[in-house]
Amino acid sequence: MTVPPAYSPVSPDFRHVIRRVPTGIPGFDELVEGGFEEKTNTLLAGYAGTGKTTFSMQFLYNGAVKWNEPGVYLSFAESKESIFQHCLNFGWDFYALEQKGLARHLFYKAHQVNKLLEEGGGTVRDTISEIGAKRLVIDSITAYGLLFRDDYKQREALLLFFEMLIKWGCTSLIIAEQLSGMLDARSGEIGFLTDGIIDFSYGQMEDDSGTKIRRHQLEILKMRGTAHYNGEAEMIFTKQGLVVKKTQDLLRQ
Ligand SMILES: Nc1ncnc2c1ncn2[C@@H]1O[C@H](COP(=O)(O)OP(=O)(O)OP(=O)(O)O)[C@@H](O)[C@H]1O
Ligand SMILES: [Mg+2]
Repeated sequence: MTVPPAYSPVSPDFRHVIRRVPTGIPGFDELVEGGFEEKTNTLLAGYAGTGKTTFSMQFLYNGAVKWNEPGVYLSFAESKESIFQHCLNFGWDFYALEQKGLARHLFYKAHQVNKLLEEGGGTVRDTISEIGAKRLVIDSITAYGLLFRDDYKQREALLLFFEMLIKWGCTSLIIAEQLSGMLDARSGEIGFLTDGIIDFSYGQMEDDSGTKIRRHQLEILKMRGTAHYNGEAEMIFTKQGLVVKKTQDLLRQ
């Protein structure tokens, strides 16, 4: 009689492999096992000027150009002209992507947020399905919350917003300015609603001549189901966009 093995490995057919969505930002994807899990949402939190928008636009641009994945940039703060023009500085031509149906910019003024909620995100949903968007950036959730000063209302709006986001089915980056306690990525409620949190910040360092210069960095605070890098990584602005370097690699240079 043959005794069945005490342990039989699970057939690969039973394993659900979640696709990773790379940013294409040099040095970043390797910090998060190759990219964000498909259809998850990640919070990019940080004060003004820390590089959140640049990171997000690079994610959209690379998605379109390298992987043919259309993307939508939903802005509450920056007009299309302003953002597309700034992107040209890095060689990212969003006007051309828009013409090819690989990118769309949607602009809502802060006071139109109610409209977005009332229509159940209709315009956004329609745009996503029209171009078959796989990537979405929301810049920023802070502006989105501005009109809901009452805590309860703000909470309700936030939950509603995340419900819509999940239905849209994109891999999303949600930007949050760290202005209020509620949006503090470490303790705020929004941190629990998102699958990942990346903290953007800057500090000062001295260059070889002893001159103090600004040093941009990011830190992955949380990413569900991902063995991610736990240190601070430096973000370097180049002519082609951001390059990310682990602190250890910088020390080795
Ligand atoms: N080409 C560049 N070279 C060096 N630094 C740059 C370059 N472009 C932008 N920066 C730096 O990045 C900052 C702006 O980055 P970005 O707009 O992505 O930040 P942000 O976090 O979205 O800011 P905000 O909260 O104001 O929207 C600038 O203030 C500047 O310090
Ligand atoms: Mg910005």
